[in-house]
Amino acid sequence: MTFPDTVPHDLPPGDDAGDDKPHPLHRRLKSFVKRAGRTTDGQARAFAELGPLFLIPYQPEPLDLTAAFGRAGPTVLEIGFGMGEATAHIATVLPETNFLCCEVHEPGVGALLKRIGEQSLSNIRICAHDAVDVLDHMLRPGSLAGVHVFFPDPWHKKRHNKRRLIQPGFVKKLAEHLQPGGYIHCATDWQPYAEQMLEVLSAEPLLRNTAEGYAPKPGYRPLTKFENRGIKLGHGVWDLVFHRA
Ligand SMILES: C[S@@+](CC[C@H](N)C(=O)[O-])C[C@H]1O[C@@H](n2cnc3c(N)ncnc32)[C@H](O)[C@@H]1O
Repeated sequence: MTFPDTVPHDLPPGDDAGDDKPHPLHRRLKSFVKRAGRTTDGQARAFAELGPLFLIPYQPEPLDLTAAFGRAGPTVLEIGFGMGEATAHIATVLPETNFLCCEVHEPGVGALLKRIGEQSLSNIRICAHDAVDVLDHMLRPGSLAGVHVFFPDPWHKKRHNKRRLIQPGFVKKLAEHLQPGGYIHCATDWQPYAEQMLEVLSAEPLLRNTAEGYAPKPGYRPLTKFENRGIKLGHGVWDLVFHRA
């Protein structure tokens, strides 16, 4: 299966990659760089067998969520699920919730399709496309019960900070897409980004912090292999959970 839009790139995401000056025609949030990565045979099989059932093609018009999931239910948008480890776990522990999951990294999409097959998950749909477009064109304001943004690319260098997902304009759009009472849950292991998240989410008038500052890790979010490794090395992790008023 050919993956749409894939441009192989050697540089790791969230670091030195990318252009400092956006092209004048593309002054929009570009939060990722397409990474090279091998799709394994198992992932390729999952694409072929499960792709037609669980992949939602990008379309520049509103998606009928009930039709997409084959049932009505609260929908959570996940942005950037990586290899889908946390996604599959959360879909298992919250079976009544529908998860619309965006990721642009082809092997990650294959990996989550594989988990869907192995764990017989029926409440995940994948859009292998930029979540910024999905939010702008496929989702109606007020349609989401929640948004998950776990360990988004930190874009460490100051001149790349503008590529971070959690910034005022995008957070405003996320908040507008939440139902009243809906939530945004972010997590990061990069303290300066955690501080930015806290500042930006706190400044959004539609949102209320559920904690005083950082939140305790909600029970549904698992500790992934990556996170466990970091914790063993003494790194911190910060969760933030805000509700739409
Ligand atoms: C650092 S990884 C974290 C992955 C995963 N959430 C985890 O906790 O392991 C960030 C992921 O977000 C994806 N990503 C970044 N911006 C995105 C966007 N606008 N739309 C979809 N995926 C995006 C990247 O491709 C990357 O796989």
